[in-house]
Amino acid sequence: MLDDILDYVEQIRARPVWQPMPPELRERFREDIPTAAGDLTTVHDQFMRDILPYATGNTHPGFMGWVHGGGNPAGMLAEMLAAGLNANLGGRDHAPIEVERQIVEWVRTIFGFPEGTSGLFVTGTSIANLIGVLVARAAALGSSVRRKGIAAAQKRLTAYTSVAAHGCIAQAMDLSGLGIEALRVIATDDHHRIDVNALATAVTADRNAGFTPFLVVGTAGTVDIGSIDDLDELATFAANEHLWFHVDGAFGALAMLAPDLAPRLKGIERADSLAFDFHKWGQVPYDAGFVMVRDGTLHRSTFASPAAYLRRECRGLAAGSPWPCDFGPDLSRGFRALKVWFTLKVHGTQRIGAVISRSCELGQYLRRRIEATTELELLAPVPLNIVCFGYRGGSGNGLNGEIVADLQESGIAAPSVTTINGRLAIRAAIVNHRTEERDLDALVDAVLAFGAQREKSCAA
Ligand SMILES: Cc1ncc(COP(=O)(O)O)c(C=O)c1O
Repeated sequence: MLDDILDYVEQIRARPVWQPMPPELRERFREDIPTAAGDLTTVHDQFMRDILPYATGNTHPGFMGWVHGGGNPAGMLAEMLAAGLNANLGGRDHAPIEVERQIVEWVRTIFGFPEGTSGLFVTGTSIANLIGVLVARAAALGSSVRRKGIAAAQKRLTAYTSVAAHGCIAQAMDLSGLGIEALRVIATDDHHRIDVNALATAVTADRNAGFTPFLVVGTAGTVDIGSIDDLDELATFAANEHLWFHVDGAFGALAMLAPDLAPRLKGIERADSLAFDFHKWGQVPYDAGFVMVRDGTLHRSTFASPAAYLRRECRGLAAGSPWPCDFGPDLSRGFRALKVWFTLKVHGTQRIGAVISRSCELGQYLRRRIEATTELELLAPVPLNIVCFGYRGGSGNGLNGEIVADLQESGIAAPSVTTINGRLAIRAAIVNHRTEERDLDALVDAVLAFGAQREKSCAA
């Protein structure tokens, strides 16, 4: 199994990025639950035949869809070790929790947060953002909100983020009981960054109308084009207006590791809370989301609940309080920290920073290729590693979507789509450390070939 999966990663370039599952194969996953014992080798054979060739493909250098990380073998092997230990990191006194605590300290250092900052591994930034919103809610209403609910506070809380923010911010408002409509979606400027003047106007209007503004969410690396809000300006605004300042840095926050990019995140060190993923630009295998809160005491009081069966002691296995379960909703938690610890110790922050920097250079390379190709047009600025472009011509908005599906089905490249100013764009997010210039050349060549083919079949 180890040989097979190492070969898979080593030889990934020779495979199609992705291929659709044949319907008869899909049917094989409708079999009845096994009641009798089976043979491990047979199950592994089935994995090799029916699962491995039909994965998403994000380890492949031609994968550029959404914002998926490429993973790395050190992290992969750490996952195996973690599974062998079968540690539960909800709590108790054991070395795996010290590994997670070590990473909290490393992250605190990377982002320049003070001592007393808390941190927690979660599945991904969606949950990390939810935790940020819940701590902000407790800051605004007091932790009694946990017992009495938001209605008892008799305040209509409002939060603010830009139109370019990820949908999970609205979802966090929903899940926290504040409601999606309590999230004010603010316009962006020409660089797709939140317009702080429009933000100020919205906050004033809400205060005048009897609402209680409590939270502003900035984005470090928007999901559509990778723009970075002016975090320093937002931090100052939030401080002046007494708002909680949360940063969604899902993929962009780790640009702190790249010396050429880090200055663009200025202000992130002033956030009250920060959400990001190690599984994107950090190249750690899925999943490894992370949330950090400047006021660790408030973070803890937002989630900690006494329970007889979780009683803490000064010695024995129940020592070592506080436990990770005091900082989030999960009680049973896997050893996500180990694959991050291995990745950081084996590769170091400099090499990871260089990968991040390099993928932004590749973004510029792709931008230049698009600008030099008459059939193609750039549809958005390229501040980081995401390039949105389109094939000129074609009668409708759907052409770029068709080309993307053609690309994915061809196995040559797998970008995704997004909408930029009402137009469907081909979106290449360069995240994988294995991606090279030749992969971008293959993407451009295939877009031109599929675009011409589609135009010809429309004309016919
Ligand atoms: C800016 C931003 N926020 C949040 C998320 C959601 O993160 P996750 O998929 O890890 O939950 C993403 C995912 O791409 C993102 O780009």
